[in-house]
Amino acid sequence: MGFVVAVDGPAGSGKGTITKIVAERLNLTTVDTGAMYRSVALECLNKNIKPTEIEKINEILKDIQIDLKRENGKQKVYLNGQDVTEKIRSKEVDDCVAKFAAIKEIRDKVTPIQRQMGENQNIIMEGRDIGTVVFPNADVKIFLDCSIEERANRRYKQNLEKGITTSYEEVLEGIKERHKLETEREVAPFVKADDAIYVDSTNMTIEEVSEKIIEIIEEKRKNK
Ligand code: DC
Repeated sequence: MGFVVAVDGPAGSGKGTITKIVAERLNLTTVDTGAMYRSVALECLNKNIKPTEIEKINEILKDIQIDLKRENGKQKVYLNGQDVTEKIRSKEVDDCVAKFAAIKEIRDKVTPIQRQMGENQNIIMEGRDIGTVVFPNADVKIFLDCSIEERANRRYKQNLEKGITTSYEEVLEGIKERHKLETEREVAPFVKADDAIYVDSTNMTIEEVSEKIIEIIEEKRKNK
């Protein structure tokens, strides 16, 4: 088993960006587990399968292939051999992924793949259930929080940069709805592990959060 850092946090907490910075500084491999749930959701969208159609979902899960690869310093996501790095970030996937991620059969397929990735390399894995379900014995567990309003604010600004003109109120509503689905689902709900270190990024810059997390990891590594 490699050295495992688990980072759990909501969308908009800065988790993706921070994980990349920390990974580069400490020479860890990043694993974005949300990308895996997004890939399954995309496959279901492509095949016109609804979250209620469990039998059809089981069918596609039988031989679905999801690969996270690093190419020229960038993370690429492959679904059944096709590069879906961009497609999994579409609004269509955004809107339905939380419903697919709540399905036990999907989590049962994806979780072992994630565990395998920590077997023989040093990783920093980000998601919602890494410290609670995927790696309950992770070497370091971080729970990266952020207020719902600030998360909506960040997403709203990102959207404007991309030319998407959804109002702040609409963005906030969408975030609240997804948060409810993620925290109230029966399987692997998004909660803080008892032994995770709580970091609130609401009033911190990306650099400040990254520095803090690096400090926490280095301290643990020293004592390992
Ligand atoms: O982090 P993200 O927004 O890319 O995650 C996409 C979806 O997958 C989101 O609804 C949360 C869910 N997810 C999850 O349930 N468990 C994880 N370990 C990672 C993501």
